[in-house]
Amino acid sequence: MAKEIKNVEYGLEKIFEGAQDFLPLLGTDYVEFYVGNAKQAAHFYKTAFGFQSFAYKGLETGCRDYASYVIAQEKIKIVLTTPLNSNSPINQHLTKHGDGVKVVALWVEDSRKSWEETTKRGAKSFMEPTVEKDEHGEVVRSGIYTYGETVHIFVERKNYKGTFLPGYKAWKSDYNPTAVGLKFIDHMVGNVGWGEMNQTVKWYEDVMGFVNFLSFDDKQIHTEYSALMSKVMSNGNGRIKFPINEPAEGKKKSQIEEYLDFYEGPGVQHIAVATNDIIKTVMELRARGVEFLSPPPHAYYEEIPARLGKHMNMMKEDLNVIEKLAIMVDADEDGYLLQIFTKPVEDRPTLFFEIIQRMGATGFGAGNFKALFESIEREQEKRGTL
Ligand code: FE2
Repeated sequence: MAKEIKNVEYGLEKIFEGAQDFLPLLGTDYVEFYVGNAKQAAHFYKTAFGFQSFAYKGLETGCRDYASYVIAQEKIKIVLTTPLNSNSPINQHLTKHGDGVKVVALWVEDSRKSWEETTKRGAKSFMEPTVEKDEHGEVVRSGIYTYGETVHIFVERKNYKGTFLPGYKAWKSDYNPTAVGLKFIDHMVGNVGWGEMNQTVKWYEDVMGFVNFLSFDDKQIHTEYSALMSKVMSNGNGRIKFPINEPAEGKKKSQIEEYLDFYEGPGVQHIAVATNDIIKTVMELRARGVEFLSPPPHAYYEEIPARLGKHMNMMKEDLNVIEKLAIMVDADEDGYLLQIFTKPVEDRPTLFFEIIQRMGATGFGAGNFKALFESIEREQEKRGTL
């Protein structure tokens, strides 16, 4: 199915045959979180994750209903939005889901066409094509619902030279913690309900022209206690990858079911961000107080040379350092990858981050699933949700 692999600025790209790129998608534009206190959330992501102040919208810019802080690191842009009064519909989202991802915005050449093509194929509209203008030009945005109350917004910005979007001003701050080496969003994972994975996969195929290029069933993704199923969707140029998870029956509660219980429905489970130097990035994140899942047992690290096989001699990282930082390693036929997962970044056990460094591998760390899920189960045990 994958025709060609090449190195581009977005990391490894595979060109997928069978995908119909009628949109087409140029990349992730931004991710918008609805949060209870955007000002404090922005401070957390700057301090802990090394994001920089980028743009702002709120009372000072004439927006009376909500405040949005945009933070950036290399190609990653996160918008943190909080309502300013009880009438805002954002409140219902927050009451139900807690802090979480509302918008996965995709950068497109033609927003009107993207909306027309997707709604014509059955997408439910969230926002009709809308032109927003200021002295720097114009942006066209439109949006559709995906799983749960999560939406995709198509952003066309070819006629815009401003900082972020019309209505925002550049946000200059005196507090500028250094970056930690996060480069771009590698993939974003959605959790959907029991029996909903295949219909979500079909939705991405039919409505967005994506292809399903990897699948894992509950026989592959399980521990002694819990299980899940996952299918990975990609757009045609491989820049956008959305694995979709569904819980599966096990002796105890699946981590996906725990997510669904606390998010009260489907939503974004994790955002994987890429780095070129995971050791440096993770040392920095740990020093700044980011909490990661507990490390796999020592035996896991003893098995790494066997798991990496022919790729072991190209591995530059010191295994002792990798183990000390609790980073996990996996390989596929194209190379290896290093990855680590944070604990949830809010009180509800919902959204978390993955830090990933790809050294040729194009997979998602399937060889780590068991060790990873055992770590998550140790956390579920503490929360009384296993
Ligand atoms: Fe992931």
